[in-house]
Amino acid sequence: MASADNNAESLLVVARQAATRAHCPYSNFHVGAAVRCDDGSVIDGCNVENASYGLSICAERVALFAAITQGKRPLELAVSCVDAQTDAAPGSRMPCGACRQVMQELLPADAKIHIDGVGHQHLSELLPHPFELDHSS
Ligand code: THU
Repeated sequence: MASADNNAESLLVVARQAATRAHCPYSNFHVGAAVRCDDGSVIDGCNVENASYGLSICAERVALFAAITQGKRPLELAVSCVDAQTDAAPGSRMPCGACRQVMQELLPADAKIHIDGVGHQHLSELLPHPFELDHSS
């Protein structure tokens, strides 16, 4: 139990640090993410916005895509919305729908998602009915 908590906390520390590097001049909403990979390494990401707003990308996807790019399998993820108001509803700390769909593709089905200020949730709770393509044929 204690080691699992330490595990989560160490991943959240990396996510909070990554948030300080966010490029978010339009929203001024800094987000950081960190994934623990199959080789034990931790890879982080931050949100990167663009003047053409739709080109912006969330911190979670940056971290997940970086892990894949480096030939690693991400196993669990932490996300920190460091600018979320402490008295705001938890929604302002939760991963967006697009990131949940990407998590579904790249994380194990039973992966834990550590959400700063909220707790952890399993991917199946965050996205109970994901879109999937049938690869069997
Ligand atoms: N953002 C993330 O990085 N992750 C999420 O799950 C939700 C939103 C970013 C996108 C944008 O740069 C800023 O937060 C405000 O929406």
